[in-house]
Formats: sequence, C-alpha cells, structure tokens
Amino acid sequence: MLTKQALTEETVGDHTVTGGIAAGDPVCGDAVSDSPAFDGKRKLRVLVCVSGGGTNLQAIIDAKKAGRLENAEIIRVISNKKGAYALERAEKAGIEGICVSPKDFPDREAFHRALLAAVEEAKPDLIVLAGFLVVLPAEMISRYRNRIINIHPSLIPSFCGTGFYGLKVHEAALARGVKVTGATVHFVDEGTDTGPIIRQKPVIVQEGDTPEILQRRVMEEAEWILLPEAIELIAAGQVDIVDNRVLIR
Ligand code: GRF
Repeated sequence: MLTKQALTEETVGDHTVTGGIAAGDPVCGDAVSDSPAFDGKRKLRVLVCVSGGGTNLQAIIDAKKAGRLENAEIIRVISNKKGAYALERAEKAGIEGICVSPKDFPDREAFHRALLAAVEEAKPDLIVLAGFLVVLPAEMISRYRNRIINIHPSLIPSFCGTGFYGLKVHEAALARGVKVTGATVHFVDEGTDTGPIIRQKPVIVQEGDTPEILQRRVMEEAEWILLPEAIELIAAGQVDIVDNRVLIR
C-alpha cells in the first residue's frame, strides 16, 4: 500500500503551489487541497537509492548520527549493483539494504517492476537518489512526483543531462575551463536533471585539478553538505514548489 502523494498542490492565483511533505498522511486517492507542512507527528520515511561507493549515503547517515535530520529516518537503501559498498555502509548503520539488479531480470520492464515493488514496499515519503545510475521508470516518477530528489555534481544547467554522470561531469567542466563548478540537489521529473532546483553550492576549480581531484572536492565541499540539508528542509516542511521553482520557507 502506498502513502498518498506527499506533496500536495493547490492553485494560488496563477501559481501552482506544491506544499511541504506531510509524512504519515493516510493513503488516499485524491490530492489534498491544502498545503500542509510536515507536522512532525512521525518522522519522514526516507528511502535512499545508490549504485556505488555511497559517500553521499554516508553523509546522510552521519548527519543523522550527529543529531541533525531529527524529523527523518532512513528506512531502506536500494542498490542496483550487487556488492556496492553503499550496501555495507547501510548494514554498518543498521539500515536495511537490498539489491535489485537488472541482471536478475529478463528485461528492463521486469527490472522496473521489481524496483518499483521494492520502493513501494518501503512506503517512503521521500526517495533520495544518491549516485543512483538508473534511468527511473516513468511510472515511478509520476507516482512519486515531487518526492524524489537527486544530487548532481555540477551547477545545473551546466554539465548536466544525458551522458553527464560521474567523472564525465568533471572532465567536461575542466575541458571547458570553468573556474567555478559545484553541485545541485533537485527534484526529479521526466527529464534528465531538469526538475526544480532545491539548493546549489559552488566549488572553486583549482590549477592542476584532475577530474578525480575535482570530483572529490565537489563531494567534500558541496554534495555531502547539500544532500542532508535538502532532506532536513523537506522533513521540516520548508520546501514549496511554485511554478516549477523551489521556494524555501
Ligand atoms: C556523486 O558524485 C554523485 O553526485 C553522482 O554520483 C556520485 C556518487 O558517489 N551522481 P557516492 O556513491 O555517493 O560516493
């Protein structure tokens, strides 16, 4: 059974306002007409999807351990890669980690069905893509509209979209000779890196940077800070979407 669409929409003048996540709301088919802030009655259920090392997952775990993310709990980690170190990180933190690998299914459709089932079973309020190298099934995006966020290692709209992932992003930034890059946390819509931007953080490119060095600096100075921050803001009900742009209350 699914929780209802957590971000609700109402029309104010010409603007569509998508309200804060209301965790724990009962299941219902229709969108609620008001725009409630997260009431803190129970914690925001956060599902994290990963493909690799999981340093962004670790940043969320560490933020939680440090007493931040008071209104959120990580309920499950899903990896599409067997043996991803992120799964070990989850285990060490006492979080359920599961693998849904496309290799275990006859075709993409069957993989997508299994992925969606693993997501739904966890009943998440928020899905965090933390280095998840899977193109999401359209059904998942529409079912969890404005409830999926992603971290991207550049200042969108630079160096984003199809083909810009992992080291390729930093290679392209260095090839273009930009002096400032950074990271972006954004909601996920049907496009690639096109959803409403929640937060961005700049990072200075330095003389002699390699893609690997720059990737590390972008993680340390931007990604690991932005992702827990965005979850905190959402869990606190401070995030609205107005005309496809995010307003932080
Ligand atoms: C990060 O750079 C993230 O921005 C990108 O993939 C990388 C994942 O790293 N989408 P990790 O698995 O969190 O260490």
